[in-house]
Amino acid sequence: MREIDNEAIQNHADIRFRSSYHYAMFEYYRSAKILKRLEWDGIDVHGAVLDAGCGSGGIAVSFAEECDRAVGLDIKNKFGDAGMKLAKELGVENASFVQADGTTLPFSNESFDLVLSHSVIEHVHSAEAYLRECYRVLRPNGVLFLQTPPYLSFAGAHLSRLRVPIPIHLLMPRSWAFRLNFYIARKRPGWLKEPRESNTFKMMAERGETKHDDLIQRVTVAGVHRWLRAVGFELVREQRHVSGFFTRNIPGFLRKFLERNGFTQNIVISNLELLLKKTS
Ligand SMILES: C[S@@+](CC[C@H](N)C(=O)[O-])C[C@H]1O[C@@H](n2cnc3c(N)ncnc32)[C@H](O)[C@@H]1O
Repeated sequence: MREIDNEAIQNHADIRFRSSYHYAMFEYYRSAKILKRLEWDGIDVHGAVLDAGCGSGGIAVSFAEECDRAVGLDIKNKFGDAGMKLAKELGVENASFVQADGTTLPFSNESFDLVLSHSVIEHVHSAEAYLRECYRVLRPNGVLFLQTPPYLSFAGAHLSRLRVPIPIHLLMPRSWAFRLNFYIARKRPGWLKEPRESNTFKMMAERGETKHDDLIQRVTVAGVHRWLRAVGFELVREQRHVSGFFTRNIPGFLRKFLERNGFTQNIVISNLELLLKKTS
């Protein structure tokens, strides 16, 4: 099984917003962490794998190296100059890409053994429709790997962090915080924590580009569990990653309380990672 190369992940994270291709390289190396987690949980990566919301496509290319066939699907064609190019360079011939909506997957029932959903559910118009489609295309006993950040997460849920850890998105409506991020990226880029090539706001501001906040779903811990129950997935494992700010600065007993509380858990947790099974 693939080893996690932390140095390669960091090196590629540092330049990931240079282009879609650079992002695909970052996804490719980072995917070793997903493979490792699946291995720890005794999930054998085999057969057909779908990356539903593949972005630049690096994860799909990486999984293709471990299974019979991997498909990267995204509503935008970011993979054309990235994942497809990477697959060619690495001689990976069993990876393919499709531009389509994850809420109406163009695949027949029970056609995949594993579906990956990494930082996607918060961007789709209907989380339940998207999960239903993931469920439909999985074979019985197939597995969904789902990762998503709570939208109130102190870590920002796709917003840039300030050098001084002030969670601006908790002090004002998220749409204002998003616009403020762009304003700071243009006028005071040094106030944002990540260096330019690992900060999409800075890179877009430099290129004179702008975008609307594409975080549509207000993901909460309880909300994700409600969606999953409605669709019928069985929970195999859940991992709740806590923001570094809380692990470093808040005493353990208080942090545990904040993690358990139904409201504050959405601030303390930076990412939810769930492993789910289609049992019927
Ligand atoms: C934050 S990116 C994550 C990309 C990749 N999974 C990763 O972890 O690097 C979210 C992706 O979801 C895609 N997306 C949003 N809505 C979608 C939909 N309805 N169907 C398929 N993909 C969608 C976006 O185009 C984008 O590439």
